[in-house]
Amino acid sequence: MAIILKQVVPWGRSADEYCHMFALNEADLSCQILGVGDGPASFNAELSPMGCNITSIDPIYAFTSQEIAQRVEETSQDMISQVWDDCEGFVWERFANPDDLGKARLKAMRLFLTDFERGKQEGRYVTASLPTLPFDDKRFDLALCSHLLFLYSEQLSSDFHLQSVQELCRVAREVRIFPLLDLARNKSLHIEPVSEYMTKLGYKVDICYVNYEFQRGGNHMMKISRVKSVGN
Ligand SMILES: C[S@@+](CC[C@H](N)C(=O)[O-])C[C@H]1O[C@@H](n2cnc3c(N)ncnc32)[C@H](O)[C@@H]1O
Repeated sequence: MAIILKQVVPWGRSADEYCHMFALNEADLSCQILGVGDGPASFNAELSPMGCNITSIDPIYAFTSQEIAQRVEETSQDMISQVWDDCEGFVWERFANPDDLGKARLKAMRLFLTDFERGKQEGRYVTASLPTLPFDDKRFDLALCSHLLFLYSEQLSSDFHLQSVQELCRVAREVRIFPLLDLARNKSLHIEPVSEYMTKLGYKVDICYVNYEFQRGGNHMMKISRVKSVGN
């Protein structure tokens, strides 16, 4: 049995999970980073005080802290009960069980919420949505997209994926996307079209193993980088 979601849900991961999902090293963390669809993740809240330069975008940043908290809490109950029904589809190393997972997700959200108002004033949380971003070309060194593209393969069209990845490559020198599985834990049907399209445009596309696996089999990210001939 797979997790079934009609729409993209706000559900946030920690900075440690981001570092593992995207194999972030010290050099990566000293870059200008764009977190795409960061939602209630605590990546920005945890790492900005340590001197990292992170801008997060998400459509939910248009809402108040209270509204976001309410939406995450509603999502949480449904997510946890679906994960209990599908336990064997996940690797229980980082979290003991679905309730422990729920606690970690709510902890991430609380960290995010304590930082949200200040971060908005500082321009670290920006209300924006793929496939069009309000940033200049090459504004960022690295764009990270966790649990949005590829995961929601059924809900987000092929055109949406192609346009979004191209837009990410416009605003950032390198793009990393995790996971490459959809909600049913099948390899996303958008992987090949995106790889072929971006390669044709002159980008280098790599599928890289990462030391993070929660969805069983989900331990690879896509890395897309500029090559000189792209002329950027
Ligand atoms: C499953 S959550 C993942 C949150 C975070 N990236 C993480 O991995 O912890 C997906 C997020 O994508 C956001 N989202 C939905 N549609 C989007 C779009 N068109 N552009 C950017 N973000 C979007 C949602 O609001 C939600 O916060």
